[in-house]
Amino acid sequence: PLPPPFQVPLPVPATLAPAGASGGTDHYEITQRETTAEILPGVRTPLWTYEGTFPGPTIESRRGRPVTVTHHNTLPVPTVVHLHGGRTAPESDGYPTDLVLPAHWPQTTHAAHDAGAHTMHDPRAAVTRLSRDYTFPLDQRPTLLWYHDHRMDFTAPAIWRGLAGLHIIRDDAEDDLGLPSGARELPLMITDRAFSADGTLTYPSLDPTLRLRPGVRDPYLAGVLGDVILVNGAPWPVHETDTARHRLRVLNASNARHYELEAVTDTGRRLPLVQIGADQGLLAAPVTHHALPVAPAERYDVVVDFTGLPVGSRVKLLNRLGTGRTRDVMAFHITRATTDDSRVPPVLSTDLPSWRPSDAAVTREFSFRAGRTHGGHGWLIGGLPFDPARSDVTVRLGDVEIWRLIADVHHPVHLHLVGFRVLSRNGRPPLPHDAGLKDTVSLRPGEAVEIITRFDGYRGRYLFHCHNAEHEDMAMMANLEIV
Ligand code: C2O
Ligand code: CU
Repeated sequence: PLPPPFQVPLPVPATLAPAGASGGTDHYEITQRETTAEILPGVRTPLWTYEGTFPGPTIESRRGRPVTVTHHNTLPVPTVVHLHGGRTAPESDGYPTDLVLPAHWPQTTHAAHDAGAHTMHDPRAAVTRLSRDYTFPLDQRPTLLWYHDHRMDFTAPAIWRGLAGLHIIRDDAEDDLGLPSGARELPLMITDRAFSADGTLTYPSLDPTLRLRPGVRDPYLAGVLGDVILVNGAPWPVHETDTARHRLRVLNASNARHYELEAVTDTGRRLPLVQIGADQGLLAAPVTHHALPVAPAERYDVVVDFTGLPVGSRVKLLNRLGTGRTRDVMAFHITRATTDDSRVPPVLSTDLPSWRPSDAAVTREFSFRAGRTHGGHGWLIGGLPFDPARSDVTVRLGDVEIWRLIADVHHPVHLHLVGFRVLSRNGRPPLPHDAGLKDTVSLRPGEAVEIITRFDGYRGRYLFHCHNAEHEDMAMMANLEIV
């Protein structure tokens, strides 16, 4: 029962109200629970959610004002929460074996197969529990972060079932720029999903309970795609709005699907997508794109201008990489004329780090390739499958490093804790959409991408991994030790 495109209104996830505040810290409570929702008309879809909705509720924070979030797990499996893009101490960063256990989790039966085994054998792993307090200092550039499940071996199906939400950081400097705001600032969490006729999400897990055996059936090793495109959880939605600039805060929260977005009017004109921000906040200056590639986990902050469009007309957001119905993403229906006093200033920020290659203490190289893991076929970093008990790279706190990342097929590579800048692609200058500070970079097939960053913030154990969520679950992850 797939709905025709551009009929369902675009939902905007509700903002979560703090449960309280003390000593300059806001406190939130989130219960992870099962529910059903009418995503496709006339059928209910069982979901795993944060607070009963997909996407989960949005947390809105001010830069430097810390937040604690207590997550309660009432799902039938262990979970782990990671705030993607957050500058977070290691104990709150959602290491894949720092499990929040469900009630009635049989430690003994699962231990030989599952992430629990790592918890027991790895002395550094934290104690498990039914709920957990995560502390996020949020002392970082304002941007769109997202929180999602990160359980060892089971991240992809858990996100697929609904465990993803947004977390926005703001500050006064950004508020003062005069960018489109209020109803004209829209978070767009784009995901693809597959459904069966009764509304159930389909996912090719070897163990659909997600309790014991990780992995997907063979044809899906490269990643799981859906044929329904959801924006903020709604299929091919439409948003009624006015003839003004809009700030679109795009997140590709799909497990494996890449998008190349374009905004097309009824007359076939492509509207410029004016990029103002990347994963880790505002660019120095706007960059104009006609089509914008967005890999899994990347965020793009984009202004699109509907000024002068006829009332009654539509602007479609399309995916140039899609075919048939996966070409459509969403539409804007222009229903009102208005005056617009928003602006996109020529200078957006002046605090971007400007690390130079000569600052780098070391250059390291990591390959991202298919290979053999304990479980069979999988994905390797530097020739090795993920092992929580092994340290893959040790860096000194405060050091600037260059990392050269080499891909066989497409791999969106994410570093926890730090933002980085793209230095080069195959020895050539970065692409226009590589501008700014990023935490996820899309390695295209056969490409070698150099990034530069300073490892500062915290000492401890972090991760870097491919954010094709199936690749991640099939071992394309590595430990980053900051000392
Ligand atoms: Cu968005 Cu390690 O993850
Ligand atoms: Cu990958």
